[in-house]
Amino acid sequence: MIAAFERLVRPLLHALDPEDAHALTLKLLKIAPALPVVRDDPRLAVRAFGLNFPNPVGMAAGFDKNAEVPDALLRLGFGFVEVGTITPRPQPGNPRPRLFRLDADGGVINRLGFNSQGADLVLRRLAARADAGGIVGINVGANKNSADRVADYVALIERFASVASYVTVNISSPNTPGLRNLQQATALDDLLARVVDVRERVAPNAGPTPVLLKIAPDLSLAELDDVVGIARSRRVDGMIVGNTTLARPPSLRETKLAQEAGGLSGSPLRPLATRMLAETYVRVEGVFPLVGTGGIDSGAAALARVRAGATLLQLYSALVFRGLGLVADIKSALAGALDRHHHDSLAELVGADAAAATAEPWPQ
Ligand SMILES: Cc1cc2nc3c(=O)[nH]c(=O)nc-3n(C[C@H](O)[C@H](O)[C@H](O)COP(=O)(O)O)c2cc1C
Repeated sequence: MIAAFERLVRPLLHALDPEDAHALTLKLLKIAPALPVVRDDPRLAVRAFGLNFPNPVGMAAGFDKNAEVPDALLRLGFGFVEVGTITPRPQPGNPRPRLFRLDADGGVINRLGFNSQGADLVLRRLAARADAGGIVGINVGANKNSADRVADYVALIERFASVASYVTVNISSPNTPGLRNLQQATALDDLLARVVDVRERVAPNAGPTPVLLKIAPDLSLAELDDVVGIARSRRVDGMIVGNTTLARPPSLRETKLAQEAGGLSGSPLRPLATRMLAETYVRVEGVFPLVGTGGIDSGAAALARVRAGATLLQLYSALVFRGLGLVADIKSALAGALDRHHHDSLAELVGADAAAATAEPWPQ
């Protein structure tokens, strides 16, 4: 049914400006009939950060920035949905055009710049669905003109802890000037100290709220050493590796669009994202689980990401090119791998190739 619907709608969406296509997709999801929920293969269930995921395939942040359709996405078969990035106050983001589809590459460049309806509205939406079940995390960021960015993160965690399954601290968007500086050692240590502190402070009322750190794939390995060391010492619950890249791989075919400023995602990001995940995995030494994100565009790519160190996966850009059927394709590829290896769970494959991947030449 999803496939039939998409055969009709996808050509229309691709004929539209990318941001208009996205807005229409959200509208369609809002009015979509509630399909019966497909039960996942129990072997795909994942327990991570104290949460039980029915399957490891998540919707990455940025698709549903304002928590308009998390339940529709869960019903379509995602194992979890990350809404956001949300900023404390509403802000418009950068001027349009700010979203570009690199069709020949299966890539996307965005410089949206945290367009957000703001915390009040999103909090109301999440509170209204709080009893609906399913894992819905919230990705938080700072307002562009904030005088105290760390205070923005702290305030959002305080407000959202009771309605979100987990919180992602996003310090890796390339489109808010200076935001990525929060990945530097001293700034990061201060940020995480305050983040973990507020999480503990609200826990008696809000319950436990796992905190994940989302990093850029553009960190140097020396910077990654620092980031993982601080994440471990501050006891975050996991990391998401990672956000969009400022790099422009030489293989890009859409050379004109490739010059647009912003973060690149989708298939061209896959080699770098996979490598950074493996590099993170060997540094984390199993202390917390990792979410692999960036260019996952097939069942094979999903399996490779698990083998590079991902306990959970997130995708966004490939859905633009492959449609929502990709979620089911990935789940059946993962189940097929379990059959082949006679494994009972994906945990047995997580990180199997990580050490070997870190010995490969650096991806272009
Ligand atoms: C249009 C667009 C908007 C995004 N917005 C956000 C965002 O608000 N917060 C965030 O942490 N990541 C955001 N991302 C990054 C994605 O969550 C993801 O990390 C990245 O796109 C790599 O995955 P993909 O190649 O499957 O798209 C955005 C990505 C795209 C394409």
